[in-house]
Amino acid sequence: MRLDADYARALDQQDPLAAFRDEFVIDDPSLIYLDGNSLGRLPKRTQARLHEVIGHEWGQRLIRGWGEGWFTAPQRIGAKIAKLIGAQPDEVIVTDSTSVNFFKLVMAALATRPDRHGIITEAINFPSDLYLLQGANYLAGGKYQVQVLRAEDGLSVSEGTIAAAVNPDTALLTLTHTAFRSGYVYDMAAMTDIAHRAGALTLWDLSHSVGALPLDLNGCKVDLAVGCTYKYLNGGPGAPAFLYVRRELQDQLTSPIWGWFAQKAQFDMGPDFTPAPGITRFLAGTPNILALAAIEPSVDLLLEAGIERLRAKSIAQTEYLIALWEAELAPLGMTLNSPREAHKRGSHVSLGHPDALRIDRALIEEMNVIPDFRYPDNIRLGIAPIYTRFADIHEAVERIRRVIVERRYERYTIERPDVT
Ligand SMILES: Cc1ncc(COP(=O)(O)O)c(C=O)c1O
Repeated sequence: MRLDADYARALDQQDPLAAFRDEFVIDDPSLIYLDGNSLGRLPKRTQARLHEVIGHEWGQRLIRGWGEGWFTAPQRIGAKIAKLIGAQPDEVIVTDSTSVNFFKLVMAALATRPDRHGIITEAINFPSDLYLLQGANYLAGGKYQVQVLRAEDGLSVSEGTIAAAVNPDTALLTLTHTAFRSGYVYDMAAMTDIAHRAGALTLWDLSHSVGALPLDLNGCKVDLAVGCTYKYLNGGPGAPAFLYVRRELQDQLTSPIWGWFAQKAQFDMGPDFTPAPGITRFLAGTPNILALAAIEPSVDLLLEAGIERLRAKSIAQTEYLIALWEAELAPLGMTLNSPREAHKRGSHVSLGHPDALRIDRALIEEMNVIPDFRYPDNIRLGIAPIYTRFADIHEAVERIRRVIVERRYERYTIERPDVT
């Protein structure tokens, strides 16, 4: 594979998705932003949409806005996200945070398996998911055994280990589809099948997958899923998350939060809770309309780009990045902490180095590159194929190389900042 800068520019010229970059606010052309898997860039259409929501809908229409599109926004935007994840329009709703949605679905799932005691997950799952499982068990009086499987190679837990752990006492198997540190992608169909054969439910966290790779929740017979919208969906900082419940399960499951937006005939204002039919029962309180409005234009952009084309570009770009790593950074002591095989990798690549934290700081402070850092020694380079260029990847590797060769990172302390 050719690796030089001219080749990167040639790939950008041939890129059928290249025009989508102009849809995003890019104030500083020399900034290389590789943090799309933590916070995506701002689409220009979102700026315009928020202007309209604030100025016209809130400013002029006032309370009438609820009847003019606000009330149905969680379902409407959920139906669009459904197209990205292989689900039916009425199986997805946008609400609350990923953590809150995860908790709601864990509690709802466990209630359907009252005689079982096993919850299975893995140690490199996102910490919030692990804490929430502990919290669910605490609320159940410690009735459950939360089994946290160890990632043998640090990247993932093998299919065999998961298959051996799931048993007839397992109520729930929950995994993050693309692991947040390594970018490893679990085989959704195989893992779901393992759980189903034992009579357990599955709950997938799609936060690092949605918008980056095609998903087929219906085809894989997934029961439950959650995901965030501020990474590859570019919904903005703290944007509401989504949850998915397979249609046949919706009326069997009850959210643990009996808020009025989950209530059947909400505006009858009756005194007793009766859950709304379908996915709406997983809402809780009044949706955050400004934050919801910011998600929709970006989801539209991804649908226009097409998730298959985005995935093809993402694979080409992570392959290019790994080839550059091998040529330029591996000789300097950087390790590849992500899978080598493209089909087992999401859209971020983690590179390890004993001085990763200081390298990360030097990149941000003096090289105008924004990756992100994950303890203890990972620099994550998140490729958002809707706006990342091959030339950005080439230049980022060159700047990382300079930070190491010129020992620029030595100027920084090893103290961890409050937020990484
Ligand atoms: C895989 C994964 N799950 C859950 C979360 C938590 O999301 P939230 O802060 O929206 O609850 C994150 C946040 O980055 C994440 O990456």
